[in-house]
Amino acid sequence: MPDKSLANLVEYGRHRLSTLSDTDSAKLDAQILLCFVLNKASSYLLTWPDKKINEAQYQNFLNLLERRVQGEPIAYITGTKEFWSLSLFVSSATLIPRPDTETLVEQILSDHCESHLSCLDLGTGTGAIALALASEMPNWQIDAVDFNADAVLLAQKNAENNNLTQVNIYQSDWFRQILLEKTFDVIVSNPPYIDNIDEHLSQGDVRFEPKSALVAEQQGLADIIHIATEARKYFAEQGFLLLEHGYEQSAQVQKILSELGYSEIKTVKDLSGNDRITKARYLLKNR
Ligand SMILES: C[S@@+](CC[C@H](N)C(=O)[O-])C[C@H]1O[C@@H](n2cnc3c(N)ncnc32)[C@H](O)[C@@H]1O
Repeated sequence: MPDKSLANLVEYGRHRLSTLSDTDSAKLDAQILLCFVLNKASSYLLTWPDKKINEAQYQNFLNLLERRVQGEPIAYITGTKEFWSLSLFVSSATLIPRPDTETLVEQILSDHCESHLSCLDLGTGTGAIALALASEMPNWQIDAVDFNADAVLLAQKNAENNNLTQVNIYQSDWFRQILLEKTFDVIVSNPPYIDNIDEHLSQGDVRFEPKSALVAEQQGLADIIHIATEARKYFAEQGFLLLEHGYEQSAQVQKILSELGYSEIKTVKDLSGNDRITKARYLLKNR
């Protein structure tokens, strides 16, 4: 066992986690867990490398480290995740927001600079997309839904914690609870899109996330098809649909949107250069 100085504990943690990930990530994870135990910012570890922690903090650190060694995602251990400029609570009710999803937020903001606009986020989870948009566009009228009651509570808690309570967050199985007389300029979703037999489901962080947030029928496309089909009833004169999807699904998603009468269909790459988001316009005359 290491002595209880901060520098030694980080090194011990890095070593314990080195079978799980590369050296840099292992060290970063150890630092995050130690800061979480101490309730300090990361600069504290650099400023006081020789400082020793007490026995309770030490045991807590070892416990959390062990959970991470077993593969549990850091965000589930600490209960929070940064997304956009927001700190979000996370839970096993829904997906941990990914940096790639920030590309979806960026796309909407670069395409739509109108100060007033109505937007719907389907399958909001932690509220990540809806709350990021609300933080940038405080006058947008944003609805955000999820069918999982715990995810809805989590998103509402995140809205309160980030002072973004103007977002209307409620439970709905996709469009089921959304009044037909409501219309939206932009409909966005990062729906479940993984095929049930995809090998990635048994690897890494994903193993700990709920299947209901990840998996869809029809080789992962069932929810995308449903959303793209139903969304057409909720646009006013025109509307824009933006969907996150798997990196190998862009051709299929483009085809689905084209067959449903969408135009200006374009796929955008994520931070790793993979096809990740497809966006399209729907004109009322196509209905
Ligand atoms: C991939 S996660 C995305 C979560 C969040 N939007 C994000 O980007 O981090 C998909 C979300 O869709 C929700 N979901 C799955 N099926 C749904 C349905 N039938 N109606 C509404 N939401 C659903 C899940 O509960 C989950 O929160």
